[in-house]
Amino acid sequence: MEEKLNKIRRLYDSVSKEYADAFSGEHEKKPMDREILSRFSREVDNENPVWDLGCGLGQTTNYLKNLGIQASGLDISGQMLDQARRRHPDIHFQQGNILALEFEDSSIAAIISFYAMVHFTKDQVEKAFREIHRVLRPNGLFLFTYHVGEETIRISEFLGKQIDMDFMFFTTDFITGCLTDCGFKQIDTIERDPYPGVEYQSRRAYLFTTKPEGE
Ligand SMILES: C[S@@+](CC[C@H](N)C(=O)[O-])C[C@H]1O[C@@H](n2cnc3c(N)ncnc32)[C@H](O)[C@@H]1O
Repeated sequence: MEEKLNKIRRLYDSVSKEYADAFSGEHEKKPMDREILSRFSREVDNENPVWDLGCGLGQTTNYLKNLGIQASGLDISGQMLDQARRRHPDIHFQQGNILALEFEDSSIAAIISFYAMVHFTKDQVEKAFREIHRVLRPNGLFLFTYHVGEETIRISEFLGKQIDMDFMFFTTDFITGCLTDCGFKQIDTIERDPYPGVEYQSRRAYLFTTKPEGE
């Protein structure tokens, strides 16, 4: 497990500059992202703290800031966080692992996680959901995005670098079943086709869910 996480961290450390160049303004080209993030900000209202898990270079954390949500960002890659801090010096970013969050139980008002689990096995996705459920407050909101499908792709090139990494797609049945098993309720999933010429051509899902009261 530790070696697999180190491999993910090394990958994102090695492509952080290229990733930042490629993705920093991406929400401007993705109307559904903007709509979804606006809905998230309305539902979070003024509750805090809010965390962006697997925040990468912080473009989503910053988009939320512009909508009035003071979110903080967490990522396993120190180099991605360096890019995030350089671009968004007024946002708090912290190194950490989604699979072992260093937050108290029931301490977080809302969590967002955009494509952060693309290298996770199904067991790791479940572990991450259990961690997120643990740290969210009752009625806490979780917004999660993923690539829809059944396949696992072995990638040998990413942003011009030679790599060797699995890229996971998940069915919505798997994700919603897993969230339900982990105790989440009120699951609302929105799927869309990829935007041509803007992003990797995979079907996308945005999923809102809530930790019920009394848990
Ligand atoms: C595909 S990128 C997505 C980044 C950003 N959320 C976005 O939408 O551009 C995946 C990110 O998740 C981070 N990540 C992967 N595994 C992680 C873990 N176990 N804990 C924290 N961050 C992780 C990576 O370092 C990387 O920045």
